[in-house]
Amino acid sequence: MRILALLLLASPAIAQTPPFQPVATISEIMVAITLPYSDALLYIERNPPKNDRDWELLQMQALMLAESGNLLMVKGRAKNQGLWMKNARLLVEAGAAAVKAARAKDMQAVLALNDQIVSSCITCHTQFRPRNRQER
Ligand code: HEC
Repeated sequence: MRILALLLLASPAIAQTPPFQPVATISEIMVAITLPYSDALLYIERNPPKNDRDWELLQMQALMLAESGNLLMVKGRAKNQGLWMKNARLLVEAGAAAVKAARAKDMQAVLALNDQIVSSCITCHTQFRPRNRQER
């Protein structure tokens, strides 16, 4: 019993020190992950997938786009718990929907997600990007 009580007391302290340690800056995540992988989806028509391998690659790119949203949510990167989280989640959801579309090898479904992907970028940048520029 006493041990259990100690564990319960200790758990909030454990929760405050996450095992992960952010390495990349937000800007680096944007340039290395979010931008190239969103481009792969947004400009799918420039180089349409021709075979199973191409579709698999697209699926992986969509997965990484979704995960980049999760990377933005971690402690040390999240700018607040409200709108920031909401915007990052939009990116996760848009990416996850694109994964499904790529899995179904459905080009129209990928294209139909363009607005959702772009609006996740714009919504967050409008609020949080310093000297918000007109690009995505
Ligand atoms: C949850 C918020 C958020 C979302 C969603 C988001 N961004 Fe960003 N982005 C930022 C912030 C904040 C910066 C500014 C980083 C800095 O300058 O420190 C930024 C900067 C950028 C930059 C400039 C990086 C540089 O320093 O050169 C690019 C490019 C970019 N974002 C692309 C995108 C694209 C494309 C999407 C959507 C697919 C997206 N972002 C979605 C928050 C977000």
